[in-house]
Amino acid sequence: MKLAESMEMASKILADATKGVVFTGAGISAESGVPTYRGHGGATWSKYDPSRYANIDNFFSEPEYFWSFFKEVRSRVLSDCHPNPGHGAITELQKRGIVHRIITQNIDGLHQLAGSQNVIELHGNTRFFDCLDCGNVHSLDDIVKMQKETLVPKCQACGGVVKPRVVFFGDALDSETLQNATEAVASCDVILIIGSTLQVYPAAQLPIIVAKRKKPIIIANYGSTELDPIATCRLEGKASEILPALVDSLSDSSTNNPKPESPK
Ligand code: APR
Ligand code: ZN
Repeated sequence: MKLAESMEMASKILADATKGVVFTGAGISAESGVPTYRGHGGATWSKYDPSRYANIDNFFSEPEYFWSFFKEVRSRVLSDCHPNPGHGAITELQKRGIVHRIITQNIDGLHQLAGSQNVIELHGNTRFFDCLDCGNVHSLDDIVKMQKETLVPKCQACGGVVKPRVVFFGDALDSETLQNATEAVASCDVILIIGSTLQVYPAAQLPIIVAKRKKPIIIANYGSTELDPIATCRLEGKASEILPALVDSLSDSSTNNPKPESPK
């Protein structure tokens, strides 16, 4: 199917939706300067073996690996990244009453910075760092400052172990968060998936639940994904171009928030 035809199909599906779920991965933030893990725009895990740099057991036994990765690869990018037009388009779909939940695998907090509400962060958020001993919370700025002095930051209050509020490889997802995401896909009328290779579970299980319910699956991605075979339609390209175009293609009459009548 040509892109124009897929866009038309996606636009028609979304025009009828009132309980859409958006499901995002690293690709939505690629154009904000955050490198992806796999596929276009990044090869993070081929350079930094996750079993060494992002595994929970290793985080405790050899913390200098994670923290050197964080210092070199993540902290500068995260301190200086901003939402792009793709994030903005998702917020617009939510404002129009088409999308009601956003599920993200990303830990960069950019959906919220773009004004999106009801964001379910499956893998946590790397702007918060908890002391595992006293519960003191540190900000990204705190960590950046501490890492100028010492590679492995320690709690400012008690000297305890500080951990980013994210899910590491080998960690379980927060059960309530996963439950909320599962409920969202179990009741949605469409899922719009953006910028994910759909290789990591249990996150990638969520679109499969939608497929079993025989609801439409729209995949917008630069490059192929594992679940392309079950997509109702696929929009190939960059999120910051495709998503605003998709919003533009939805006519005003298709929105689910009818404009208030003007006073007589
Ligand atoms: N627009 C849309 N898609 C893009 C763009 C873009 N501008 N740039 C890259 N992509 C695509 C890539 O080609 C790839 O197909 O986005 C996808 C990103 O896939 P991954 O890097 O695998 O990211 P994701 O699926 O979110 O990874 C899942 O794996 O490492 C763990 O916990 C980490 O949450 C992450 C999870
Ligand atoms: Zn502490």
